[in-house]
Amino acid sequence: MSQLDAFRLDGRVAFVSGGGGAIGSALAVALGGAGARVAVSDIVETNAEAAAERVRAAGAESLAVVADITRESEAERVVGAIVERFGRLDIVVNAVGGGAGKVLFDAQEYPRDAWDWIMEINLRSTLVASQAAVRAMVKAGHGGRVINISSVRAQLGINAGYSAYVAAKGAVSSLTRQWATEWAKHGITVNAIAPTFVDTPQVAMLLGDPAFKAGLVNRVPLGRVGETGDLVGAVLFFASDASSFVTGQILTIDGGLTATQ
Ligand SMILES: NC(=O)c1ccc[n+]([C@@H]2O[C@H](COP(=O)([O-])OP(=O)(O)OC[C@H]3O[C@@H](n4cnc5c(N)ncnc54)[C@H](O)[C@@H]3O)[C@@H](O)[C@H]2O)c1
Repeated sequence: MSQLDAFRLDGRVAFVSGGGGAIGSALAVALGGAGARVAVSDIVETNAEAAAERVRAAGAESLAVVADITRESEAERVVGAIVERFGRLDIVVNAVGGGAGKVLFDAQEYPRDAWDWIMEINLRSTLVASQAAVRAMVKAGHGGRVINISSVRAQLGINAGYSAYVAAKGAVSSLTRQWATEWAKHGITVNAIAPTFVDTPQVAMLLGDPAFKAGLVNRVPLGRVGETGDLVGAVLFFASDASSFVTGQILTIDGGLTATQ
């Protein structure tokens, strides 16, 4: 038996909420590659189906479920469908979120509708999907893994109209620690990754501004923006037995950016 076997996910079932997105789909494929059966849910049917197909192409079983994961009844339906299809649920990855680059406002003018939208997709989605998944894990009694996606914005301000996003991601990081504390007794670990900018459509507008991108890259010791593949290793670690004694942690994935602050 190799030390690397601790990173395998054979027999496990993963639920990637927002798995049709840029980051979610990359993580879904990686979880499948490590041996898990992977359910992908997304509010956009074509996103969910395309990601599930990519997981299957990587050699794993996959299920696509269309749902608005900010709604409790929808999250319950998704988890019910996963347990019905695969018989269990071990891992939830909360990859719904973003929107920050689409609603940029000065802090003193930040409008309530934009604030509520950012909170819904980043914070409520994480809350509601985790609650539904963890209820199933507690009922089954086999423990599990919750993996959240925070952001370096939980730690660092940015002079680009991000008030709601930093508030939402700050809350995601806090809940990672809170849930780790509460759910340890059920054998459930809760960890988060906190990336800097990852080259995805979500941030294309900001990264498309050459001055902004150059300023960012100059501040990153490793000298580039992130790629979705940069997030895979941490998520496989948190999803697997390799991290059995790790909970409540937020792993910053930023090429060293926050180390310089
Ligand atoms: N892209 C980055 O630079 C970056 C950096 C740090 C953190 N993050 C975080 O990573 C996560 C994923 O980001 P991404 O870049 O992959 O975004 P994305 O927009 O590509 O993916 C998000 C997915 O969530 C889905 N979605 C949106 N609302 C939903 C809802 N109510 N119910 C179900 N699905 C819904 C979207 O259809 C989309 O497929 C987000 O939490 C984001 O804040 C992204």
